[in-house]
Amino acid sequence: MTIRKIVEHPNPVLEMKCETVTQFDKPLKTLVKDMFETMYDAEGVGLAAPQIGIPKQIAVVDVGDEKGQIVLINPVVTSSNGSQTGPEGCLSFPGLFGEVERPFDVTVKAQDENGKYFTIKANDFLARALLHEIDHLHGILFTSKVIAYYENEEMER
Ligand code: NI
Repeated sequence: MTIRKIVEHPNPVLEMKCETVTQFDKPLKTLVKDMFETMYDAEGVGLAAPQIGIPKQIAVVDVGDEKGQIVLINPVVTSSNGSQTGPEGCLSFPGLFGEVERPFDVTVKAQDENGKYFTIKANDFLARALLHEIDHLHGILFTSKVIAYYENEEMER
């Protein structure tokens, strides 16, 4: 496994609409492993492929709960309900944290690294993490949704 270099803002790849994945081959599986490794190394809870310079619809999430490692390939939000407002950050914006409103509950349909379709339901922080990463795959950055920025000393995450 390899720790990849995380792309930071401003870099055009972060605002690209990512391509659909059609080949579920060995290089894809390696890429997914590298993305988890890179995310853990950076102490993040999610990482999207454009954040390592690859504009493809691939994201990984692990918020440290019982759902464990989640691989999202070609994800689509099929339903969302409610709302939550809370702190958010991004590995491509080191040291920047802001308050972002998101749905409280989401249902996401996606494929795993083998191309198998699955549906995941999530709420609260995991829903926030999934939505943040799915936004990345459409070139949408959390900064476009920030209601108010926090001073660094107010936030540890
Ligand atoms: Ni991010």
